[in-house]
Amino acid sequence: MCGIVGYIGSKDVVSVLVEGLRMLEYRGYDSAGVAIVRDGRVDLRRSAGKLSNLESVIVAQPIAGDYGVGHTRWATHGRPTEENAHPHRDCTGRIVVVHNGIIENYLDLKHELQLQGHKFVTETDTEIVAHLVEREMKGDGLENAVRRALMFMRGLFALVLISADDPEKIVTVRNGPPIVVGLGDGEFFVASDIPAILNHTRDVVFLGDEEMGVITRHGVSFTDFFGRPVSKATQRVLWDPIMAEKAGYKHFMLKEIFEQPTAVRETILGRVSQDSGRVFLEEMAISEERLATVDRVTILACGTSWHSALVGKFIIEQLARLPVEVDYGSEYRYRHPIVDKRSLAVVITQSGETADSLAALREAKREGACSIAICNVVGSMATRETEGTIYTHAGPEIGVASTKAFTSQLVALYLLGLRLGQVRHALSLADSRPHVNALLQLPLLLELALKLAPQVEEVAARFLTRTDFLYLGRGINYPIALEGALKLKEISYIHAEGYPAGEMKHGPIALIDERMPVVSIAPHDAVFEKMISNMQEVKARGGSVVALTTRGDDKLWSILDRSHDFVLELPPAPRLLSPIVNVVPLQLLAYDIAVRRGCDVDQPRNLAKSVTVE
Ligand code: AGP
Repeated sequence: MCGIVGYIGSKDVVSVLVEGLRMLEYRGYDSAGVAIVRDGRVDLRRSAGKLSNLESVIVAQPIAGDYGVGHTRWATHGRPTEENAHPHRDCTGRIVVVHNGIIENYLDLKHELQLQGHKFVTETDTEIVAHLVEREMKGDGLENAVRRALMFMRGLFALVLISADDPEKIVTVRNGPPIVVGLGDGEFFVASDIPAILNHTRDVVFLGDEEMGVITRHGVSFTDFFGRPVSKATQRVLWDPIMAEKAGYKHFMLKEIFEQPTAVRETILGRVSQDSGRVFLEEMAISEERLATVDRVTILACGTSWHSALVGKFIIEQLARLPVEVDYGSEYRYRHPIVDKRSLAVVITQSGETADSLAALREAKREGACSIAICNVVGSMATRETEGTIYTHAGPEIGVASTKAFTSQLVALYLLGLRLGQVRHALSLADSRPHVNALLQLPLLLELALKLAPQVEEVAARFLTRTDFLYLGRGINYPIALEGALKLKEISYIHAEGYPAGEMKHGPIALIDERMPVVSIAPHDAVFEKMISNMQEVKARGGSVVALTTRGDDKLWSILDRSHDFVLELPPAPRLLSPIVNVVPLQLLAYDIAVRRGCDVDQPRNLAKSVTVE
């Protein structure tokens, strides 16, 4: 979950590192630090809290140097203090390491190293790496010391190291969390994610698992952990640097909400034929014959991606007539799941790094399932561990609260549902055509949904001091109730629950009083009348209703009261696409409330964008 960056080249090292860390701050913001080498010495600057604190430290005590590494932390082992901030050092202060992940056997190693005389000054697992490498330095280069040290470590980790005793060299290894090496003109970068280096280069190499990169001013060499050369392909990243900037928006989250029409358009582009109705998903890399044998789909995901999975169940079951089960990545492997060679496991993950989702995927694969990822990050773990990937072309999502990745995932699931339906002959091309046409209209519907922004602000202004919210939806819009509630919780810290509207009377109705806003997702569909009944039940108990419905509604105001309630009218959308449209005002509502409450929208407390620990 932490952010790592390293640089060697002729630019101002500190600026490159700090700028890179700014682009990675979404990965963790409990503390930050840099280590710079100059004249055979390593200088450190670190600070608890956000990157801005580190910047103040650097202004007060400037440093400069020839090359260096930086880190922004999401605390796992040890409190978020300056002392526990990376980079960490060995006893001599000449070996420095930054780390993402967990060294699982660090306590045993620490004990052993302490007995050998090593002095520890932090509560972190990371510090043992510096001491282990110190112990293993035998005059044959930092990379060989790191290789020997690796033999003692257990866990999933990405590391970047420098040593003043082996100057002009940065060593990086990957055993789980991602590492990308950037190739510039006479300069080289290493980072845990592409946005950190996008301003400098788009030519990158993704380190594979159990691989090492040795970076000098003259080039990069790649080997496995045993020193055997590995040949790596350079990839050109298509993301534009501007995509990772706020571009005039107050927050990344707001920018990303407004980018949804584009993100969705890009995700559809080139994958459908309007004339034939055909869907092209070659990147799934699973043969038609194999797909035709699939008799069950298991979707594995966490958080917002799990909400997409719930919507995906409706889409795939309707379009492909295949049974779909959805599970939390964090739960799947703790039961004895029914999965075999005829199963298709779909892991949905924006980052491609979520440890729980990856562990669940591995479990399904172990039982023989074929697997695909729906993912937004090229080269990430999920894409490497599955047979194929349907990429969501949403561009970098920096706000911790997922928005455009979510709607793009739903589009990817729709494409998957159509494709499976076609391969299994559950859906003819003629029957596919209206779906394809509807998909192509989706960006326009999203533009219209975004026009609700001023009305949503009024809702936010009315309810911003409330302490609890209930979100209700039915059928395919029940997951949208969950997602609306999650968005509000994570960025405004207001307690919110999403519920299937029909279940309200079995418990949550006891919570309703005049302080409780109830957000009801009630498009004009088969369950509209039932949603009206639920809203009446809320009104009868004094609650306020915020109803999301289809434009042209004339029924709702007969049961709602203009001085207490709100109706937000959305453009008509086909049932399977309506969740994608309905979620937009809920994202805006969470955003507006959080901003009005003075919350840190892009970096909410305790959270990180990529959850790489189980
Ligand atoms: C979304 O707003 C959250 N921050 C979080 O629930 C997220 O969706 C979850 O951690 C899964 O992430 P992934 O899609 O990168 O796997």
